[in-house]
Amino acid sequence: MNSESDPISPVSSRSSAASGHVRIFDTTLRDGEQAPGFSMNRRAKLRMAQALEALGVDILEAGFPQASPDDFAAVAEIAKTLTSTTVCALARCQADDIDSAGRALQMARHARIHVFISTSPLHREHKLGMSKAQVVDATASAVERACGLCHEVEFSAEDALRTEPEFLIEVFNAAVAAGATTLNAQDTVGYTTPAEMLSLFTYLRQHVREADQVIFSAHCHDDLGMAVANSLAAVSAGARQIECTINGIGERAGNAALEEIVMALKVRAPHFGVATHINTRKLFPSSRLLTQLTGQAVPRNKAIVGENAFAHEAGIHQHGMLKHRGTYEIMLPQDVGIAKTRLVLGKHSGRAALRQRLQALGYTPDGPALDAVFAQFKVLADKKREIHDADLEAIALGQDPDATGPWRIVQLNSATHLGGSASASIRLLHEDGQETNGVANGDGPVDAVLRAIERASHRDLQWTDFNVRSVSEGGDAQGQAQLTAHYGQHDWCGQGISTDIVEATALAALVIINRIERQASAHAPVAAINL
Ligand code: KIV
Ligand code: ZN
Repeated sequence: MNSESDPISPVSSRSSAASGHVRIFDTTLRDGEQAPGFSMNRRAKLRMAQALEALGVDILEAGFPQASPDDFAAVAEIAKTLTSTTVCALARCQADDIDSAGRALQMARHARIHVFISTSPLHREHKLGMSKAQVVDATASAVERACGLCHEVEFSAEDALRTEPEFLIEVFNAAVAAGATTLNAQDTVGYTTPAEMLSLFTYLRQHVREADQVIFSAHCHDDLGMAVANSLAAVSAGARQIECTINGIGERAGNAALEEIVMALKVRAPHFGVATHINTRKLFPSSRLLTQLTGQAVPRNKAIVGENAFAHEAGIHQHGMLKHRGTYEIMLPQDVGIAKTRLVLGKHSGRAALRQRLQALGYTPDGPALDAVFAQFKVLADKKREIHDADLEAIALGQDPDATGPWRIVQLNSATHLGGSASASIRLLHEDGQETNGVANGDGPVDAVLRAIERASHRDLQWTDFNVRSVSEGGDAQGQAQLTAHYGQHDWCGQGISTDIVEATALAALVIINRIERQASAHAPVAAINL
């Protein structure tokens, strides 16, 4: 068993709480991905998993293998690919789930099975229909079974924060006796407060048997906006693993945001006295990669990774900043991987300069990937006088293979008629050589182009959300269109970038069409298990 217990503790002389290392357990690809609008295909998950490994997460929850064949395959592929990060698979306290998790993790260099069961009275009675004794028995046999398949086993109590504390101790004791080395308390419904978290973790560390041999972990949801504060309170009380997601994505209001936890522990290191192994300079690129893969942008004012997080507009702030940065800035943009300069490159810049600038921004394309970025950069430089970091990021992140093909746009026309409707025509080329056209009128050029692309692709989509924003500065700035569509019981997202917003819209719609098409050809739909 991969024992990570650490010496010395305020509670016991051998407790893991004395360790200065807080393990980051990333669940972007499990809890995050299961939220509506955030689904990713297998290739996108693998790409994100590699970025998370480069970011330095200790444990990566890759999925719930029993949920669907696709989830199983994604976990297996991630397990086979990652080298240093522990790959974790989720399982309910059921033999089939645990066996699936074990099989999916077979090729992992470092593996963990994560078993969970609901412990609160509400869940016991209404969700499970189980008595306390049955929950304890199920815990013990599930953990034991998982330990037979994997060296490292984590046990989670779902809805732990609404569970009787004495019963939680009973369940955790059963899990430890059966071989679990990480005990996770889940605030499944985002109900708790930092003060409650502090007292629960203090109580757990005092009463769980062999508390000094296990890692205590917190998993917080953000329904009341306290997920990060609650996670940090757990750390203050000795938790040494935090479960979180990039950009805070996850069920309902989301999970605790990884970037906020990591930067709080870093910026306030003297206060918390602990550290993570995260390479903070990769936080921003990881966040941007996720937005690209899911098509879901973060709010401008999102802490750490939002566009405004380091912008100082107010005159009084700018005045202070010019005298001393520390007046209004508690961390440097570079610390989280934002390497902002005003003007970066222009049409005469070469490949080497582009590569250097991309590296400064946290991207490392090489060979054909760099060639593709360079080619797009040159096209953009012909249209746009100044190329900003945001433009480069958009190009680098736009190399998403799912966004390119099987369809591509070969012709697009749109016209707006004063006082009347708009019209658009589009010609699409499929990678198998088939060409189709779509012509439509609409209330405006965006409406017309969306109708035209539906006709050309023979897909009847319900467009549910549309946003356009500028990704850089100036009148010739690129516009980023973000679209959401409902199709086949799923929400699909896509982003497109161009100096022309109608073209950006068409590209975003094309990403959605391509995602649907790839998904349809990859496999027939399967029913997912809801947790
Ligand atoms: O928040 C939670 O309780 C969970 C479980 C469903 C694993 O994520
Ligand atoms: Zn959760």
